[in-house]
Amino acid sequence: MRAFIERARADGDLVELEGADWNLEIGVLTEWQASLTDGPVLLFDRVKGYAAGYRIATNLYTSHRRAALALALPGEAPRLEQVRLWRERERNLQLIPPREVTTGPLLEHVTTGDKVDLLALPVPQWHEHDGGRYLGTGCMVVTRDPDDGWVNLGTERGQVHDGQTLTIYLSPGRHTAMIRQKYWERGEACPVAIICGQEPLLWAASNFPIPWGVSEYDYAGGLRGAPVDVVKGPTTGLPLPATAELAVEGLMLPPGTKPDLPEGPFGEWTGYYHPSKPQPPVKVTSILHRDKPILQGTPPLLTPLDYALGRHIRRSAVTWDILDRDFPGVRGVWFMEGGTPYGGVIVAIEQKWAGEAMQVALKVASSYSTAYLLRWIIVVDEDIDPTDWHQVSWALNTRCEPADSIQIVNQLWGSPIDPRLSPEKRAAGDYTHSTAIVLACKPYHWKAQFPRTICTSPALLESIKNKWRSHFE
Ligand SMILES: Cc1cc2nc3c(=O)[nH]c(=O)nc-3n(C[C@H](O)[C@H](O)[C@H](O)COP(=O)(O)O)c2cc1C
Repeated sequence: MRAFIERARADGDLVELEGADWNLEIGVLTEWQASLTDGPVLLFDRVKGYAAGYRIATNLYTSHRRAALALALPGEAPRLEQVRLWRERERNLQLIPPREVTTGPLLEHVTTGDKVDLLALPVPQWHEHDGGRYLGTGCMVVTRDPDDGWVNLGTERGQVHDGQTLTIYLSPGRHTAMIRQKYWERGEACPVAIICGQEPLLWAASNFPIPWGVSEYDYAGGLRGAPVDVVKGPTTGLPLPATAELAVEGLMLPPGTKPDLPEGPFGEWTGYYHPSKPQPPVKVTSILHRDKPILQGTPPLLTPLDYALGRHIRRSAVTWDILDRDFPGVRGVWFMEGGTPYGGVIVAIEQKWAGEAMQVALKVASSYSTAYLLRWIIVVDEDIDPTDWHQVSWALNTRCEPADSIQIVNQLWGSPIDPRLSPEKRAAGDYTHSTAIVLACKPYHWKAQFPRTICTSPALLESIKNKWRSHFE
């Protein structure tokens, strides 16, 4: 992460700020700058009430160029090309297990036992109506399966309650939650570490749905083409990234050991606050950090681009792979940026048979990897670049006849986090929602009669461009 920040500095893409207040000022400055297209990375130091050297970096990946670079993709390449490259990377990925080393920058400062104090860290209150201060936003939660020994990483938020107590919010089905449950069923506390500040590809791995039983450490090793160096956590024995900025070790106490603590509300990725239930406490057993640690802050925000790390690229790649198995005519997939990272997808296809466009849409609506809280599925023809909203809106305005081309599919996979869930459905525990399938492609059976577009054909455009290009350089 430090190398990434240094690159941003060298590119003039970093603003350093001193004296900001942990109480909302850091969060609001982050929100303001992230709302600008291509706003800079922010690096906060001398946070109000804290000594110099406990730093916080925000907006690391909120520009398209930086997100691509963090994923080791060419920053200036067209978006669809980046999706293609990510698909290739995933398809050829070989898992590489981490390498245990005996020392590393993370061990520069180690505090254990009663001396640990989370409040010695400048933990921000990010949003106006959050229920408290959140240390873990751009973090990784490390746990080990007690039966099979594999190590899981997940980005899951951590709220600070006092100097030695945290809570971690886990949605049902998270691998971290399933591992924790195994310990609890044995009446044991679950050892855990929260990493705050790590290299970009490792962080990306920690919030991507990797199959149960596969360690995100191995997956990240594959993405970076070399093992991740890990040191042994002094109080948990868990493997911790040797170059991480800061790690908090602890025990997720079984329910009933101590009273549950109120967690949240927290400003969520949907763009709304989400109330949450009281959570069992995590008893902190150590804090480890580098010299002048830099905490990664990634609060959910309404940004022009995904506020996390290139999830529209990664998710589009997965969806394209799923569709390719049945529909060889798929020419591009793009999850709408900004707002929420999952709400809408655009698929470009070269239609080969009548009904194919609807089949494509239904597959997207029903697949485990694509369906979650998806409200819009737009299918366009192969001449439309799904990453270019101007082209997509042209297709919507000229190739879609709403009376015929829009279908609503109901009772799809949703979540209690859905802000549009009616009070009645919420009370009944019915978390489903509907999706609009919008066919903004030429109707297959009269495609050939569809009026010609005014766009110059690609070959003629290229030849005239080549003849005159030098006049525009
Ligand atoms: C910035 C960010 C914050 C997230 N916060 C949470 C969270 O607080 N709780 C949660 O359950 N999932 C959260 N997620 C989603 C999980 O990280 C993601 O589903 C991951 O794959 C879970 O890993 P696991 O199933 O291996 O535990 C977050 C994702 C991102 C990108």
